[in-house]
Amino acid sequence: MTAVMPRGGPHASWLDRRYETDEPEYLDRPDTPHEAARVRRALHRMQLLTRGYDRYARWTLERAGAGPSPRVLELGAGTGGLSRRVLRRHPGARVTVSDVAPDAVAALEAGPLGAHPRAVVRRLDATAIDAPDAAFDVAVFAASLHHLPPDKVRAVLREGTRVAGTLLLIDAWRSPWVCAAAIPLMFATGGPTHVHDGVISLRKAYGAAALRELAAPLPLTVRFAFPGYLVAMVGRGA
Ligand SMILES: C[S@@+](CC[C@H](N)C(=O)[O-])C[C@H]1O[C@@H](n2cnc3c(N)ncnc32)[C@H](O)[C@@H]1O
Repeated sequence: MTAVMPRGGPHASWLDRRYETDEPEYLDRPDTPHEAARVRRALHRMQLLTRGYDRYARWTLERAGAGPSPRVLELGAGTGGLSRRVLRRHPGARVTVSDVAPDAVAALEAGPLGAHPRAVVRRLDATAIDAPDAAFDVAVFAASLHHLPPDKVRAVLREGTRVAGTLLLIDAWRSPWVCAAAIPLMFATGGPTHVHDGVISLRKAYGAAALRELAAPLPLTVRFAFPGYLVAMVGRGA
């Protein structure tokens, strides 16, 4: 059931199932590294324009606890814009910034985060995180969950809450109207390459019902910040 569960959840409508796609993004294909790098840069521009990183950094720190040196893990960091803002906003925060793609990790290591005294760059797979239990106060996985099939999402839920007190998931809004409205912005920030991956991302986005279903067998609490818009806090005490 999990492997074939629609992204809109087990009771997704016929229309929602038609909206879903199994097309791969450039970011998911081993044979399109140049397009993937272009998409990461385009998404970075879009996040800057929409102030996405600033919002995500604020939400991350709100869940990091009141201690003087919160330990933050960013999974699927891409260009690392979120982590840079976390470090800028909180003078004591310690950030592990990671991605599964070796070229993304190499670019992070070569950039400002690679030399930052409170940042560590690592290659980590969000579905099998190479870190001890409770190593972080908060883990954040932004704009990335839709890349994974349902069984891997369940692995992220399990792993993210094993290594961190709270797992913050931020992803696209599952709505054909949002998708249509976002196309001009995707084109403006990255041309047809960004539209390609952006539209597929939005059509693969998980709905809240799907996430609830995937978390159901696990001893976790899932709370949504906005109904219909996938911003979820997951944890044993979320
Ligand atoms: C659309 S980008 C988002 C990048 C960044 N979080 C942002 O908001 O700009 C998705 C990222 O997730 C990464 N990713 C995909 N599967 C992953 C996994 N299993 N573990 C960690 N990162 C993953 C990709 O390499 C890619 O950099």
